[in-house]
Amino acid sequence: LILVIDYGSQYNQLITRRIRDLGVYSELHNPSITIEEIKELKPKGIILSGGPKSVYADDAYTADPAIFDLGIPVLGICYGMQLLTHMLGGEVVPSNEKEFGSTEININTNSALFKGLSENETVLMSHSDKVTRIPDAFEQIAQTPLCKYAGISHKEKDIYGVQFHPESKHSVNGDTFLKNFIRDIAGCHGEWSMDNFIDIEVEKIREQVGNSKVICAMSGGVDSSVTAVLMHKAIGDQLTCIFVDHGLLRKGEGDMVMEQFGEGFNMNIIKVDAKDRFLSKLKGVSDPEQKRKIIGNEFIYVFDDEASKLKDADFLAQGTLYTDIIESGTETATTIKSHHNVGGLPEDMQFDLIEPLNTLFKDEVRQLGIELGIPEHLVWRQPFPGPGLGIRILGEITEEKLEIVRESDWILRDEIAKAGLDREIWQYFTVLPDIRSVGVMGDYRTYDHTIGIRAVTSIDGMTSEFARIDWDVLERISKRLVNESKHINRVVYDVTSKPPATIEWE
Ligand code: XMP
Repeated sequence: LILVIDYGSQYNQLITRRIRDLGVYSELHNPSITIEEIKELKPKGIILSGGPKSVYADDAYTADPAIFDLGIPVLGICYGMQLLTHMLGGEVVPSNEKEFGSTEININTNSALFKGLSENETVLMSHSDKVTRIPDAFEQIAQTPLCKYAGISHKEKDIYGVQFHPESKHSVNGDTFLKNFIRDIAGCHGEWSMDNFIDIEVEKIREQVGNSKVICAMSGGVDSSVTAVLMHKAIGDQLTCIFVDHGLLRKGEGDMVMEQFGEGFNMNIIKVDAKDRFLSKLKGVSDPEQKRKIIGNEFIYVFDDEASKLKDADFLAQGTLYTDIIESGTETATTIKSHHNVGGLPEDMQFDLIEPLNTLFKDEVRQLGIELGIPEHLVWRQPFPGPGLGIRILGEITEEKLEIVRESDWILRDEIAKAGLDREIWQYFTVLPDIRSVGVMGDYRTYDHTIGIRAVTSIDGMTSEFARIDWDVLERISKRLVNESKHINRVVYDVTSKPPATIEWE
């Protein structure tokens, strides 16, 4: 284990991520971790991370000085280096010359930290304070034109500090820096894999849950499915999943969830058929935000009703990912859309939360899903929003319109899969704008619905570009949409990026 102490930089989870990619298990912990707790974790190396504060600030995070006497190698990164300098008798001052971005660094290749690297490397610097005097027992091992102490090491002990960010992809050989610390200095051998993650999490879940019961809101999406299967592996029938069918699901979705997870994995799943409840609440409502709120709230009421029927459930398992935590942490005050997430149930529900995926990124969750035996086509499913097809019908939601989006979405998915584009395109779906136009079919005039195709590429859904789908594929899709749906006489392709548009139309 490599223990990373989190001093608040946005890069910190990335450090644990890079280390795990190098095959070594790593955990991020708060600065409040005590020396006893550290000893209990038995880490082979400790990383003091970056952070936005100044070591001199009144509310600056610190560490127990005893960590330098444990005989465990320590690497301070950015704030971490300033902190260890400050704690061990050196000097850190605010610098007039701030250093941000890719920077040429000159390193002493004799240092164990820099093995296999060349004298000049490119790294990411991002700091305003800087070290001006190093503690007595230390020596300089790297410098940049603006920063004399860009790297330092203890003359006898395995204590290192770097001002740059080896975890960032902008540090060209960042992995080598980390590997040198983790493997050569800390002596970890890189045997960690998703398999171990499962073992460790299963153990943790069992310990936390004991004999209690757990419920889990299951949507059939990747995150909630992986959470449910992992929980089920740990506690079997102590877990009950609640799957709310709000009537706004895609074609075949409800059956798929029940077959795959209920029968395939033999999990307790309660399917709640709440279509009428949702549609009657949505009747006559056309404002997008109001629709979202109604669906979100109704979801909670239905879930609450079902959950209260299950006696003695103490825990609620949620598929919160690490990125969900970052995003909600940095959310600005303006509401673009009030997101409704299956994971976002209110905290005043009387449950303790279990979030076994909250240290993972989406691609790690997919990898975990595969390890847990979830079929590939489910693990690689495109994201599907909590409010479902309800936000892909512009204006009022009716049964007829639902049928049109559901069928057209089915056709689109089929054609995208046939064209082999289903992994390349982040998300693809049809939307039904509230417009009709004139067409001609046979000798007849038609006056019918226009359907929009939205297909985007994206890394994380925060920004996106419209997918450059081949004209021939688009033509096939367009023909099928018009031929196979009784109500479509025109197909349009959305060529807007996000921003300025959003991925969904509402
Ligand atoms: P937008 O439309 O905001 O969507 O560009 C970004 C990503 O989020 C999905 N989305 C949602 N997901 N609950 C969710 O779980 C929601 O309320 C919601 N609204 C949008 C959207 O499908 C895209 O992947």
